This record gives sequence, structure tokens and C-alpha cells, in this order.
Amino acid sequence: MSVPSGFRALPLPLIQLSLAAVLKCGQSFRWSIYPLPASTPSEPSHEYRLCLRDRVVCLRQSPDTLFYRSVFAGPPPHPPDDAREAETLTWLKDYFQLDVDLVKLYDEWSERDPVFRSFRTRFEGIRMLRQDPWENLISFICSSNNNISRITKMVKSLCKQYSPPLLSLPPPTFTLGSLHTPPLDPPEPPELEVEEFHPFPPPSSLARPDVSATLRSLGFGYRADFIQKTAQMLIDEHGADKASDCQEAPEMWLRTLRDMPTPEARLELLKLMGVGRKVADCVMLMSLDKKEVIPIDTHVHQIAIKHYGMRGTSGTKQAMNPKLYDEINAKLCKVWGDYAGWAHSVLFTADLKSFASYGLPTPSPTPVKRSSPSAVVEDDTLPPPLPLPTTIRKSRKRKQLTETIAVAPAAISDTSSPMVLQEAGSLAERVKRRRRQG
Ligand SMILES: *[C@@H]1O[C@H](CO)[C@@H](O)[C@H](O)[C@H]1NC(C)=O
Repeated sequence: MSVPSGFRALPLPLIQLSLAAVLKCGQSFRWSIYPLPASTPSEPSHEYRLCLRDRVVCLRQSPDTLFYRSVFAGPPPHPPDDAREAETLTWLKDYFQLDVDLVKLYDEWSERDPVFRSFRTRFEGIRMLRQDPWENLISFICSSNNNISRITKMVKSLCKQYSPPLLSLPPPTFTLGSLHTPPLDPPEPPELEVEEFHPFPPPSSLARPDVSATLRSLGFGYRADFIQKTAQMLIDEHGADKASDCQEAPEMWLRTLRDMPTPEARLELLKLMGVGRKVADCVMLMSLDKKEVIPIDTHVHQIAIKHYGMRGTSGTKQAMNPKLYDEINAKLCKVWGDYAGWAHSVLFTADLKSFASYGLPTPSPTPVKRSSPSAVVEDDTLPPPLPLPTTIRKSRKRKQLTETIAVAPAAISDTSSPMVLQEAGSLAERVKRRRRQG
């Protein structure tokens, strides 16, 4: 495998990290994504870029390697700076929590949960990011009553408005190696504009009183006040001093919540404007190392009803209240264990509309999964059973599903969902077993 020019290579299988899933499933909202003309499944199909305080990190991924490079403002050093790329690698390992063995976790969840087991192969490589808590907090204040594409727009416009661009970059080069032959039909026409990269603004930039009005004019609605007030509260409480690494005092303080027990950290976050239980839990899971925390909303409630026998009416939105929140939380924690928050994010992703074709043979955001046309299923109501052993299972599946529905209707209420169960027979058995035990 050739390393794209300017990049360094970190051996990392897709089953440990799938950028195509993890950077698009509503954890972080600031990555820029560019298609590349990959002509074989072993070549990277996209480049992903994120602006940190002092550099833009660029990533590409092949089935067994993560390629990374960083771009700084000013002319590039010659020769390339090993020390700075080593910092980027350290950041990557921290941000993607690469010391956590995701395959081992998937094994454990599959062991504990037949629903998880049924789609683990399709939704592999989905892990929790360890984000900057300040950025994560503000992004999730934006997330209330909102969807991923609109949150992404808001977060990007916030950065553009309140932090000067660090640098500009043209779209990634469309030549990966000297032997590269352009495909006849590239995925999308190349974007020609140069993109400006803005770091996430610090608390002091968002605390000024005029910020609310400006954010309102940018379409933030009631979230505009929450953002300004939360920034103001944090600065009132902790000051705006800058530490040596350019972090302001509130940012440093938010990081200290990583060492605090979950209930205490939650209480601290709940003091902030625009932060309810759900937002606090998202921040704790996604940036404060609280791996067991499951943020609950009606979407997760529906998953719990549909697949885990939680009480409630499938398909109708129900108001969330603290008691119900705790009940759903307890139920799902019991299913998944210590890393329940991580497991939840796999299910959450699997249930997103934008992931309806993820991991399927065609069309697929990960060409890696492309397989022979014979694997494409003829049955409209079921996603193709990739990449499980195909032929035998396929011919048996309809029968298995029918039997299962007769046995455990609650467990399979929506076969058109991306979370459709592929090993329905064994699920039914497990459900029966569990009911007998339970
Ligand atoms: C997201 O929300 C906005 C505003 O409510 C809406 O216009 C848009 O269609 C939504 N997008 C998706 C993908 O649901």
C-alpha cells in the first residue's frame, strides 16, 4: 500500500476505527469531508480535515491504515518536522481513544446482547471520540431540538464568526500516487474553492454581551442566549486567564471534570445555561471520559422500546421525564455494561437515516465493503445480509424471521430499519431464554 504524498501511516484496521461512521454520526460537527477518486477499495475514498488551535489535521483511511498529516500556518518546514507530526499522532491517539480495543468491546457487547450481535459486522469501527470539552459543550447546546446537518452549519458559522482563520487549503490533490489512474467515473466533481479553516473560538470570544444578538441573526434562535450566558458564567466563575497551551481557564476547568465522579460532574454541567440532563450526558460521554453514560432522548427511547422490551408505545413521541430517563438508562446499562455509552452510540448510528445504506454493498460510503453483485439481495424489505456468510443464510432468512415474529413480535417491529436483525432465529431463542430467566 502506498502512502499518500505528505502523509504518515499508522497501521489501524477499519474494525477499530471507521472515519466514515465516526466523523458523521453526530458526535463532532467540525470535520470537513472531501471525496477522493479511489479506484480500488484499498485506496482511501475520502479526506477528513479538522482545524485545531495551531494546525489543520488531515486524515485518510484505507482498510488497514490511518494516514495523517498536519498543516500549519506559514511556509512548511524543510525537512518535514518530525516533532510536530509526533504531536499530531499523540493527539490522534487521544482523540480517537486508540488505547481502547474496540473489537474486544464489540465481542463483549455481542456476548451480552443478541441485537448488537446481529448487526455488529455492518456497523464496525464506531467508537467514542474524546473531544475537547469546551467545543463539545457548545456544540451540544446547539444540538437541542436540532439535526446533524443544521448543527454542523451552526457550529461552522460560529467558528467563522468568532475565530480568525488559521489558514486556507485547496481541496486535497486528486493524485494519490505516481501510478494512479483516474477512474472513468469519479465519485463527485472536485470542489475548486479553497477552504478557510477556523479553530473553535475560546470562551472569552463567546462571552461578550453582543454575541447573543449576532448568533440570533445567524439563525441560532434561543440557543444564542444559552451560548453567550454559558460562556459568561464560566468566565465569571473561573476567569479568562490563558494557560501556557493557549487554553483559557474555563477550558482547563472543564477538563478537570474528567477526574470527577459522574454524578458530581453532571451537577456542575447542569448549572450552565442551556444544559439539561441530555446535553450534560452527551458532554460527559463524548469529552469527559464517562464511558458508561447513555444520553437518552426520544430516539434512544424508541430503540429501547423496539429492541430491549422497554415500556412505551413504539412510533409515538413521548415526553421524557427524569423517572423515565433513569429507567431507560438503567435498562440499557444492564444490557451493555461498563462501556454502555459507547455501545449506545453504535446503535444510535445504526438507526440514523443517513446511515441507511452504510456498510451495504451498493451504494456504499465505504468502498471497502463492495462485494460481488450476487450478494445484492432481491428482497426489498431487508437490507442485504452483508458481510455475513451469504447464500445459505439468505435462503433461510425469511423463514427464520417469520418464526421469530410469531415468537417475539416486540423484538422485531421494524424490518425496514437499518437495525434489522440478521440472525433472527438465534435472537428469538435468546429472547425466550431471557424471558424465562427474567
Ligand atoms: C434539519 O432541520 C432543518 C430546520 O428545522 C430542516 O430544514 C432540515 O430539513 C432538517 N434536515 C434534515 C436532514 O432533517
